Amino acid sequence: MKLAILISGSGSNLQAFIDACETGELPAEIAVVISNRPDAGGLARARQASIPAVVVNHRDFSSREEFDQALVEALEPHRVDLVILAGFMRILTPVFIAPHRGRLLNIHPSLLPKYPGLNTHQRALDAGDSHTGATVHFVTEELDGGPPVVHARVAIEDGDTAESLAGRVQQREHRIYPLVANWFVEGRLVLEGEQALLDDAVLPPCGVDADAG
Ligand code: GRF
Repeated sequence: MKLAILISGSGSNLQAFIDACETGELPAEIAVVISNRPDAGGLARARQASIPAVVVNHRDFSSREEFDQALVEALEPHRVDLVILAGFMRILTPVFIAPHRGRLLNIHPSLLPKYPGLNTHQRALDAGDSHTGATVHFVTEELDGGPPVVHARVAIEDGDTAESLAGRVQQREHRIYPLVANWFVEGRLVLEGEQALLDDAVLPPCGVDADAG
């Protein structure tokens, strides 16, 4: 199976995928990495791994829809089976989502449905939450609202800051995201309408707890 990975930043999740493909933990090929930012650190990680790295700069387009159409066209020649959003910090429109529905995953740094959007760790701290975490979910038209597949919980400790939490949450992200992709590659994970199914069973509303079983 061929994957595309879309990034905007340092690409530590991208690196987790590169490593998982190299070890065989994820039997797939990363066919292309696309960044909307020319200065994204992850572009160097892709080139280092000899993966084609493409920039589609959102600033070159006057609307989200035009940008999304350019993304569709950049992906098309690579004929990928699965698109992985890994710290891709642009809101996508149906122009991109509709043709990739059911084969488009995202990772979000909160326990969805809590804290869609930005600044999730600070919001969890401000609310006095005991836990936060990360969620891998199918992408549908609703921002951070598609059906969750897996979540990993991280305890919030005294003295935690948004940065310290982000570090611990990211360590969990790097484990759960390739795992979910592997389920997809194995044909075990599908999106049917608005529901995520694993081994033909509808997943719970928050997705599988990565620490269960
Ligand atoms: C991750 O924490 C992800 O959850 C969030 O952006 C971050 C990306 O980090 N949406 P990286 O670029 O994979 O290092």
